[in-house]
Amino acid sequence: MAGMTVLIVGGGGREHALAIGLAESESVGSVHTCPGNAGTTLVGANHAVSATDVEGVVTLAQELEVDLVVVGPEAPLVAGLSDRLRGVGIASFGPHSAGAELEGSKLHAKRVMEELGIPTGGVQILDSDSDVKAGLARFAPPWVIKRDVLAAGKGVVVTEDAVEAESFILDSIESDGFVLLEEFLSGEEASMLVIMDESGYICLPASQDHKRVGEGDTGPNTGGMGAYAPAPVVTPAVRQRAIDEIVEPMHHHLRNQETPYRGVLYVGLMIDEDGAPSVVEYNVRFGDPETQVTIPLIESDLGMMLLAAAEGRISSLEPIFSNKSAVTVVVASEGYPGPSQTNREIHGANTVLDEGEIHAFVHLAGAQIDDSGKLLSSGGRVLSATAIANDLATAVEASYAVVDEIELEGSHHRRDIAYRAL
Ligand code: AMP
Ligand code: GLY
Repeated sequence: MAGMTVLIVGGGGREHALAIGLAESESVGSVHTCPGNAGTTLVGANHAVSATDVEGVVTLAQELEVDLVVVGPEAPLVAGLSDRLRGVGIASFGPHSAGAELEGSKLHAKRVMEELGIPTGGVQILDSDSDVKAGLARFAPPWVIKRDVLAAGKGVVVTEDAVEAESFILDSIESDGFVLLEEFLSGEEASMLVIMDESGYICLPASQDHKRVGEGDTGPNTGGMGAYAPAPVVTPAVRQRAIDEIVEPMHHHLRNQETPYRGVLYVGLMIDEDGAPSVVEYNVRFGDPETQVTIPLIESDLGMMLLAAAEGRISSLEPIFSNKSAVTVVVASEGYPGPSQTNREIHGANTVLDEGEIHAFVHLAGAQIDDSGKLLSSGGRVLSATAIANDLATAVEASYAVVDEIELEGSHHRRDIAYRAL
């Protein structure tokens, strides 16, 4: 299909990256985003419909007569946006609500993995009848405690402090009824994004996110403070094991469901020192900020790829990937990942570096343009500086050159993105 009209749902840096990738696709004629941000307006039209307003998105897609909807965040998928869109004959990239339960419920994901024999950490469910101290004694510290709710990466506590562990467990049981206590997996993390449908799957270049707020991977978890791709920890041997032991059995399971999975499966991997991968988590959407470093490495037409998955014919494509490296460094608001200071003016976000093979620019995330045309922060993660170059070290340098042009009062960022690979 040429000249497609595409609607992207969401408004973060991931959606800006998707909008750029789609706008650059020959198959795509126009890009719309709801609600979008200051970045997506540079690429197409924004519409004031919330990503979680399922009926509003369906109506908008019908009004715009779109050929494809690409759903960014998990909440509308869990709420059944793809089911509704397909019900009215609109192709949607993103799983139906039952498929989205892999992210919607960590307990469900664990049970599916157990059933399929997919390597992952052991788990114990604790509720108000449980002996919490006995539970903690069963696992060696650090303790990994996960609430079974959508919490944008913030429903997880990893701690060696027994008092903190116990209090998070008790609070979670009080608010949710139960909580998961999980075996701690050691090793190095990586994100594998796998575009899949019932006909097959495509593994995108593996990336590595930096989930902790502080340098050296310290401090509380965030949505992600920066990422790079490809991640060398995913060697060809590790990748093959991940495919054989994790992706294949899960794809087989998902393709045989009553409604097959069509979208991207984000496999959060822990790779131990022997190169054995196991699953930390599944997400049912593109990662943020992993998308900002993955989309630029796809040389094939992104619009065709996402439409093919939405229509169940991904196996007909032979994707081409770049052999460059990409890195993105997140600039976050003061206070993030806690309550953030927003509504502050951002300067320098239009910085672009084009030097030979180096291309660096800004992906906007929690940033909006006000009535007077000022660019203001509107979220925790405000933007990320992304660079693509022939090698990772050059990309990192270019990305920080862009970060250094950004002015935002009270903002913070990590200076060590990609350190594990350098
Ligand atoms: P999740 O939301 O399940 O991805 O957890 C957020 C982050 O917590 C992960 O990216 C890991 O850094 C850490 N984490 C989660 N589960 C484990 C585990 N079983 N072992 C070690 N770290 C974990
Ligand atoms: N960057 C982690 C995530 O998207 O879940």
